[in-house]
Amino acid sequence: MNNEYVTEIRSKVAEILKDKPDRFWHSVGVANTAAALAMRYNVDMQKAYIAGLVHDCAKYLSDQDLLMECKKHGIEISEYEEKSPYLLHGKVGALYSKEKFGIDDDEILSAVTYHTTGKPDMTTLEEIIFIADFLEPMRNKAFDLDEVRSLVFIDLKKTVYIVLRDTLTYLEKSSKPIDKLTYDTYTAYKNKLEEV
Ligand SMILES: [Fe+2]
Ligand SMILES: [Fe+2]
Repeated sequence: MNNEYVTEIRSKVAEILKDKPDRFWHSVGVANTAAALAMRYNVDMQKAYIAGLVHDCAKYLSDQDLLMECKKHGIEISEYEEKSPYLLHGKVGALYSKEKFGIDDDEILSAVTYHTTGKPDMTTLEEIIFIADFLEPMRNKAFDLDEVRSLVFIDLKKTVYIVLRDTLTYLEKSSKPIDKLTYDTYTAYKNKLEEV
């Protein structure tokens, strides 16, 4: 990886999101936040930056198109994803990252795949992309944002846990369905913290 490669990917993401400036700036925000966290947690900064840039590259697709792309490429669709196809933009995003941007780094592709739900045993890069999605400068959806934004530089796993906990509380309160993988991720991170 080099600077030209990163610049080329950023131009391609800008092109694919040219009608969605907010989403482009969200992607740049996630890239920058992820790079800062990578610096703190000894992860490859360029990988983190690239994963941030491309993580939502399939988010512009309709539910129908996401389902179609998965079926066409033999990507597994869970029962929950069938009901909430929007979540598939992680898996299809990884596919597009490979096909449209030529990214073949498995760590980046996995971080893109799981940014929507998380998963119980995330790598540090996966945790960084999952959390940067909530904490980038343009986002205001997480609860206690100021607190988690400073905590993330002290304790990444605890921050992942807090964001998962608050997200699940919000989903439960609003009677929205919860993806099993998100719930399993929450339980796994809760257990990890209790072990310490
Ligand atoms: Fe996303
Ligand atoms: Fe995102």
